[in-house]
Amino acid sequence: MTAQHRFRIAVIPGDGIGQEVVPEGLRVLDAVAPGRFEYEHFPWGCQFYLQTGRMMAEDGLERLQTFDSIYFGAVGWPGVPDHVSLWGLRLAICQGFDQYACIRPVRLLAGVPSPLRNATPERMDWVVVRENTEGEYAGIGGRNLAGRGAGKQVAVQAGLFTEEGCERIMRYAFDLALTRRHKVTSVTKSNAQQYGMTLWDDVFAAVARDYPAVETEHWLVDAMAARFVLKPETLDVVVASNLFADILSDLGSALAGSLGIAASANLNPEGRYPSMFEPVHGSAPDIAGQGIANPIGAIWSAALMLHHLGLSAEGQRVMHAIEVATAAGQVPPDLGGRCTTHQVADSVIAALADQ
Ligand SMILES: NC(=O)c1ccc[n+]([C@@H]2O[C@H](COP(=O)([O-])OP(=O)(O)OC[C@H]3O[C@@H](n4cnc5c(N)ncnc54)[C@H](O)[C@@H]3O)[C@@H](O)[C@H]2O)c1
Repeated sequence: MTAQHRFRIAVIPGDGIGQEVVPEGLRVLDAVAPGRFEYEHFPWGCQFYLQTGRMMAEDGLERLQTFDSIYFGAVGWPGVPDHVSLWGLRLAICQGFDQYACIRPVRLLAGVPSPLRNATPERMDWVVVRENTEGEYAGIGGRNLAGRGAGKQVAVQAGLFTEEGCERIMRYAFDLALTRRHKVTSVTKSNAQQYGMTLWDDVFAAVARDYPAVETEHWLVDAMAARFVLKPETLDVVVASNLFADILSDLGSALAGSLGIAASANLNPEGRYPSMFEPVHGSAPDIAGQGIANPIGAIWSAALMLHHLGLSAEGQRVMHAIEVATAAGQVPPDLGGRCTTHQVADSVIAALADQ
C-alpha cells in the first residue's frame, strides 16, 4: 500500500436515520483522510424492496465483493416486515461474507451522562464480541400446521453452534484481550440450553488453554445483564452468541449514554471478504426525517473502519474529536443536547481541524 492508496468503500445508508447519519460519517472520513476514499452508493433498503421486491440487487454480494469495506446505515421501515428487511440485506451481507466477528465497544465518552450512578470513563470500557454468523440467528427452522386450523400452528427456530464457529470467535476474543486488559468473559445459558451452549463452553475451555496470559470467566446471560449494570468495571472482553451479544450490547450502549453512540464492526478477520461497519442502532422511524439523529454511532463506526484499513492514527484522531465534541456538550437530544445531526458532525470536524 502506498501513501496514495485510495480505498474503495461501498456505502449503503439503508432506511430511516441511516440516510441521515451515514453522510455525516462520510464527511468525517473525508476530513480526517482527504482523498483516501472512493465511494460508491447503493440505494438498497426498504424503498428498493417496495419497488423491486428485493432488499438488494440480485448480484449484490458479487458487486460488494470487490470493495475494501462496506459502510452501512440501518435497515427496516414500516410496511416491510422486519425479518424480511433484516434477512434481505444486513444478515445477507454478514452471513454471505462470513463476517463472523461483530465487535461492539462500550465506552463512556467524555461529558456523556450515564444512567448509572458512579459511572466514569475508567469504570466503563469494555468490548462485546458477538458471534455473527450462526447461533440463534442461523435462520434454521420452519413454521407449519397452519392448515389444521386456528391456534394450531407450530414454529421451530433452531440455534446452530459449530465447533469451528465457536473456536474462531473465541480466538478473536482472546487475541483482542491480549491488546487490552487480558480478560475474557464467556456468556451463555448452558444450564438451560444443554446442547449448543455446552459445546460453546467446551470450546471456550479448550481455546483458553492456548492463552495462559488471559484470565477467563464463564457467566450466564441473565446474571451478566445484572453485572453490566452493577459491576461494569470488572468487564474487559465479553464474548457471546449472536442473540445474547446483540441484546447485551444494546444494554451496554444505553449504560454508556445512548443507543445513538454505539458503534460496530462486522469483520471477516482473514480478509477473504470485505468487512462492514455500521452503527448498532436501527432506522428509528420515530425520529427519522427530523435531523436530530445522533451521528456518533455512525462516526465511531467509521473510526473502526479506519483502524481496519490500517489508518489507526486517523481512527484515533476521530475518536479524540468525538470526545472533544461530547465534552463540549455539542450533542443531539438523545444525549440531552440541542444539536442537529449535521451540527454534531460539524463539531467533530472542527475538532479534527484543531488537532
Ligand atoms: N442494524 C440494523 O439495521 C437494525 C438494528 C436494530 C433495528 N433495526 C430495525 O430498525 C427499525 C426500528 O427498530 P427499533 O425501534 O427497535 O430500534 P432503533 O434502534 O431504530 O430505535 C430504538 C430507539 O432508539 C432511538 N435511537 C436509535 N438510534 C438513535 C440515534 N442515532 N439517535 C437518537 N436516537 C436513536 C430511536 O429513536 C428509538 O426510540 C426496525 O425496522 C428494526 O428491524 C435495524
